[in-house]
Amino acid sequence: MTDTLDAVAADRALKAKHRAMWGLGDYPSVARDLIPELGRVLVEAAGIGRGERVLDVAAGTGNAAVPAALTGAQVVASDLTPELFEAGRESAARAGAELTWEEGDAEALPYGDASFDVVLSCVGVMFAPHHQRAADELVRVCRPGGRIGLVSWTPEGFVGEMFTTMKPYAPPPPPGAQPPPLWGDEQHVRDLLGDRVTDVVARRQVVTASGWPSAEAWRDHWKTVYGPTIAVYRHIADDPDRVAALDRDLAALAARYDRGTDGLVLDWEYLLLTARRV
Ligand SMILES: C[S@@+](CC[C@H](N)C(=O)[O-])C[C@H]1O[C@@H](n2cnc3c(N)ncnc32)[C@H](O)[C@@H]1O
Repeated sequence: MTDTLDAVAADRALKAKHRAMWGLGDYPSVARDLIPELGRVLVEAAGIGRGERVLDVAAGTGNAAVPAALTGAQVVASDLTPELFEAGRESAARAGAELTWEEGDAEALPYGDASFDVVLSCVGVMFAPHHQRAADELVRVCRPGGRIGLVSWTPEGFVGEMFTTMKPYAPPPPPGAQPPPLWGDEQHVRDLLGDRVTDVVARRQVVTASGWPSAEAWRDHWKTVYGPTIAVYRHIADDPDRVAALDRDLAALAARYDRGTDGLVLDWEYLLLTARRV
């Protein structure tokens, strides 16, 4: 009993930490300026149509939820970090989209079984620490015959490598937590969803990010906007040598990926996966 209470308290503390982390910096600008294409790609791949009930899990500012709502679907944007909803509401209003915003943990979704025709997550559910728990929730809330659509950064792509680069500088992950970019591995997701889905279609694609004059400029910008990176820098803030080393490593990563001739151009690889709930 005490063990169970301890586990519940530990999970609550971990989620509170994650919520605070995603509220750092300026994630809304990342979704708006760098990866808006991903939400549209996911909505298109999932074939969302008028009147369908759609849940966007770990929706953030509604990168997928807003274009889904624009198809005429009834959309719920759910996220652990409701601090992001204000920017989401503004972006929905600008686009003329109507949808509902609700706080929720991807590992314990506050919805009944089979509540949705389509369950989406755009580089979102991958950040829930217990992959099987989160996958079970995606499956549970999707009705039989409904669709699940996911976009996840691949382990071998730029964002996956960025997490690998930051790992030696980050606090050790809590017991049982799995690395987010594993969701970008097709076999991992097939194993998580198991025989509860069919018609799995997966392909790797890239979204291109640019607008920085150099690798160092990307790094300095990223350090101010992206919660997980800001959190790692905070962890090592007392050690200038480690800060300098992480600075070097992140700039080297961006320089290695750069294919620009006049300013930095980075291809960020992701896995786009759709499946039908049995
Ligand atoms: C990279 S952002 C993606 C947001 C949005 N889907 C997009 O495409 O811009 C990751 C999101 O996952 C959310 N998140 C992290 N852990 C979560 C959890 N356990 N349950 C629900 N959302 C979570 C964060 O709050 C954040 O909004």
